[in-house]
Amino acid sequence: MSSSTAPALAALGKRLAAQPACWLVTGSAGFIGSHLVETLLGLDQTVVGLDNFATGHRRNIDEVRSLVTAEQWLRHRFIEADIGDLDACREACRGVDFVLHQAALGSVPRSLANPVATNAANVDGFLNMLVAARDADVKRFVYAASSSTYGDHEALPKTEDRIGRPLSPYAVTKLVNELYAEVFGRCYGFGSIGLRYFNVFGARQDPDGAYAAVIPRWTRAMLLGENVLINGDGETSRDFCFVDNAVQANLLAATTDDPAAVNQVYNVAVDGRTSLNRLFHMLRDALSAFQPEVRLRQPVYGDFRPGDVRHSQADVAKAGRLLGYVPSHRLSEGIAAAMPWYVSRFAVADEACR
Ligand SMILES: NC(=O)c1ccc[n+]([C@@H]2O[C@H](COP(=O)([O-])OP(=O)(O)OC[C@H]3O[C@@H](n4cnc5c(N)ncnc54)[C@H](O)[C@@H]3O)[C@@H](O)[C@H]2O)c1
Repeated sequence: MSSSTAPALAALGKRLAAQPACWLVTGSAGFIGSHLVETLLGLDQTVVGLDNFATGHRRNIDEVRSLVTAEQWLRHRFIEADIGDLDACREACRGVDFVLHQAALGSVPRSLANPVATNAANVDGFLNMLVAARDADVKRFVYAASSSTYGDHEALPKTEDRIGRPLSPYAVTKLVNELYAEVFGRCYGFGSIGLRYFNVFGARQDPDGAYAAVIPRWTRAMLLGENVLINGDGETSRDFCFVDNAVQANLLAATTDDPAAVNQVYNVAVDGRTSLNRLFHMLRDALSAFQPEVRLRQPVYGDFRPGDVRHSQADVAKAGRLLGYVPSHRLSEGIAAAMPWYVSRFAVADEACR
């Protein structure tokens, strides 16, 4: 956790350290999942990680290992499995207090290219996890929902109770997650909380591949001297959310003892709105401090991407009110915290190529 960690999370950290619990993090070899594992182990919790390496990497787990103590690492167990396998989900949930379900196939374009694969991981896999967690009687099931659920609803900022029609197969799967979670609450009294993440970024977010998110993709391109492609006119905007904010929301959601806070969905971001053009300049400025020639980079403009919403901005008041969520990092602070990781990664790659 960073030095600017919100007071709510610092207090929670103390409580957790005094009362260690067992957590299951699915998607633990991925970006957000690996940060959850890192934070939980740092708080002396017992953590079971599960991943099938569809988009995650063993190197993320190795990096977490290098960031915690040997004693903390002994409290970590990893299960390589697919959430399409109900028996594996049951095995992973055994003896677990809290589930933080992150495993899914992200990316709108990926879902447009292969809706069947996205549905299998995000809907069938999600239902398996719900059933396994319910049967294991876990205390709380927190899951990664998505801002894509706002679909074609144009009002800004986005408030949790006003959504539109989905604009992609990915958005359908994340909406279905919320519907299943709600029905499990109503039919089985199962306690879950959905976190609608808005463009989360930070260290270990994969910069490679056709479906990489914008911040790691552009960062990599700037550092390696490749073209930075902006889809559309660059005035598309997003509420970029540093990963520590997402970690905070997960821990607060898992441990809240306020019944009014459970069986709800929450926006997780910072209530900011930044255009892609502005983001380009912020990243370029931050990276030129490490690599001066980056200051010369100019973006290239392409077509708008199908399935993308035009503007996005989260109202985070509900998470503040019911969970005590206070984002610890705004975009500029998150960029400052994340860039050294990318610089070290690509500086090494660059050296290796010489
Ligand atoms: N990063 C964002 O901006 C963002 C925004 C909204 C929602 N989300 C959601 O947050 C969650 C985590 O996203 P992320 O950015 O860390 O992505 P990620 O791709 O880095 O992590 C997802 C992990 O899930 C694993 N996984 C995928 N399918 C699986 C399966 N069938 N069985 C087991 N493991 C499987 C992948 O291997 C990967 O390690 C996802 O549910 C995603 O949809 C992310």
